[in-house]
Amino acid sequence: MRYLVCSMITLTERQKVKFQAGPRSVLVALAEGKPFAIADKCPHMGFPLSGGKYESGVIRCKEHGLEVDVRTGSVVDSPKVAFLKIAPSDMSVRSYPAFVENGNVYIEV
Ligand code: FES
Repeated sequence: MRYLVCSMITLTERQKVKFQAGPRSVLVALAEGKPFAIADKCPHMGFPLSGGKYESGVIRCKEHGLEVDVRTGSVVDSPKVAFLKIAPSDMSVRSYPAFVENGNVYIEV
C-alpha cells in the first residue's frame, strides 16, 4: 500500500521522520538527497530506531548503539553490549521503497 509521508521540504529540514503506515512503524530518512524507508524497529531488542542519532545515512540506536544504514537496511555496527557477540551480517532491518512525486515523499509498505 502506498502512503504519503510528508513534503520533501519537511524531510530536508528534519532529515528523518517517524511514520505510522497502518500497523507498521517506519523510519523515513534523507540520504544523499533521496528518501529511504526502513522498519522503525531495532533488530537487537526491538526498540524504535527513530529515537536515535542520525547522520550521513546511518541511524544509531539510542539503546545500545547498533547502527543501521537506512539506504540498505544493513547493520553496519553491532550493539555496544560487552557480553553480546553478534556479527552485523547476522542482522538487518526491513527496507521499503520510498520515492518523491510532486514534491512529496511516498513509501510503499
Ligand atoms: S535495542 Fe537497539 S541496540 Fe539494543
